[in-house]
Amino acid sequence: MITRPLQFVRRGQTVTLHDVPPDRTLLEVLRDDLQCTDTKEGCNEGDCGACTVVLGEAQGADIKYRAVNSCIRLAHSIQGQALWTAQDLVAADGSLHPVQQALVQCHGSQCGFCTPGFVMSLFGMYQNRVLHGHPVTRALAQQDLSGNLCRCTGYRPILDAAQTMAQLPRIAVNEADLLQQLKQLNQAGQGPEADSAYFLPTTLADLLRLRSHHPTAQLVAGCTDVGLWVNKGHRHFPQVLDLSRVSELRRVEHYPHHLAIGAAVTLTEAFAALVSDRPQLQAFAQRFAGLPVRNSGTLGGNVANGSPIGDSMPLLIALGANVVLMSTRGHRELPLEQLYTGYRQNVMVPDELLAWIKVPKAVPQEFSRVYKVSKRFDDDISALCLAVALRLEGGRVVQASIGVGGVAATPVRARQTQALLTGQPWTQATVHRAMAVLRQEFAPISDLRASSAYRVQVLGNLLQRFWLESQGASAINLESAGLEELTA
Ligand SMILES: Cc1cc2nc3c(=O)[nH]c(=O)nc-3n(C[C@H](O)[C@H](O)[C@H](O)COP(=O)(O)OP(=O)(O)OC[C@H]3O[C@@H](n4cnc5c(N)ncnc54)[C@H](O)[C@@H]3O)c2cc1C
Ligand code: FES
Ligand code: FES
Repeated sequence: MITRPLQFVRRGQTVTLHDVPPDRTLLEVLRDDLQCTDTKEGCNEGDCGACTVVLGEAQGADIKYRAVNSCIRLAHSIQGQALWTAQDLVAADGSLHPVQQALVQCHGSQCGFCTPGFVMSLFGMYQNRVLHGHPVTRALAQQDLSGNLCRCTGYRPILDAAQTMAQLPRIAVNEADLLQQLKQLNQAGQGPEADSAYFLPTTLADLLRLRSHHPTAQLVAGCTDVGLWVNKGHRHFPQVLDLSRVSELRRVEHYPHHLAIGAAVTLTEAFAALVSDRPQLQAFAQRFAGLPVRNSGTLGGNVANGSPIGDSMPLLIALGANVVLMSTRGHRELPLEQLYTGYRQNVMVPDELLAWIKVPKAVPQEFSRVYKVSKRFDDDISALCLAVALRLEGGRVVQASIGVGGVAATPVRARQTQALLTGQPWTQATVHRAMAVLRQEFAPISDLRASSAYRVQVLGNLLQRFWLESQGASAINLESAGLEELTA
């Protein structure tokens, strides 16, 4: 099989690499092939951020910048994009970029192992926020650095640096020149892909055709799950079908009653759309992985992967989302929970893929919340996730919709609890009865994240929390009442 040359722009030059295997990661290319060892390998699974790089992609007249983990990104996925690593920020005369200067000034580095990764996350922040005149608050700095770990310096000086960089003389990328280069590269890069080892289609028609002709090619979107199968599972994929550039699937479409989120929309963008409709989801969105993972991974990948502890599915089930599956033969639409047939198994046939997730918009009578319980607050996988959406009219529950993760082999709908709640007055007495039903509705397993007994206990507690919040109790009230342990 032919692997077409991998081409991207770095330091104003086009880099062309031949014979890069389809499952070679970007970090391997950087460190082993290009000897760019400033980009570090820490965990090699997307957790620590030491390998963070920034990608630039032409989008109309703009460049879109994203900090991503190079360790779990396949190298060919950056075809036709611009790439920066920490060493690319230093000027020809050796002077430092403001993000580097700020780290020096604020004493933001001790052993230095994490520093190139922090530099790149800061650079992404600089391009997306500072150069657009947006103030860098402490909260924003914490949010944008959520995917980077430092074991020795401590975060205060690093967060200081994030705020200090905005005060230093500005340095901007020459975007006009870069756009021109990227345009040429992408024009030159388009050609027939008869039997390629890495397919990177840009249209839905091409994607579906390739899926039909090459059903055994490994389908990837953001590769944040698949990257671990390569690095930790040592799996090899001789042929990859990457859907991340399919223009139709990169859109969030807004209809009067629902949002349609394309399968190539990143988690960052998908959650932004969901949060704009339901602002209460903001805190939950930020607890899904860290920013570099959200900048690569997709909502479609989370749903299709079907992990029983995947975070988005309980929420999407509670909101009544449907999935649209497509193939060259046509499409079908089904409620999201009907996608799953067993542990990481689903109804999709080999030539089919998930194209859209349709999420009903909020209605005025809705009260909805989602709770994630994990060992660490940031960048951790759930032990348990509960999402509840109620429609209340005249103090009565007219519709109850509940999604749960971490209690069965797949994400599930709590049908018995829903049935108990529907038509009942929304009172503490009803909630107590519903808690008892919810606790007996599933038989979760014990594993390294939580025991079965803990999951059952907390599941009911979360419904009580939902009740308290529906009565106006804020997270702060609940924390002072000692309930924060349940969700921290
Ligand atoms: C450090 C780290 C932290 C994480 N934290 C969380 C977390 O907090 N919560 C959580 O839920 N997950 C988390 N994840 C898991 C992962 O990021 C998500 O599941 C993500 O949404 C996967 O999307 P992707 O686009 O990267 O999928 P990929 O890795 O590209 O694909 C995953 C699977 O889905 C299939 N697939 C992808 N798109 C489609 C499609 N359109 N149609 C059919 N099949 C498809 C692929 O073939 C593959 O089998 C984390 C991962 C890492 C590395
Ligand atoms: S090496 Fe840890 S995130 Fe990539
Ligand atoms: S400076 Fe040592 S790990 Fe961050």
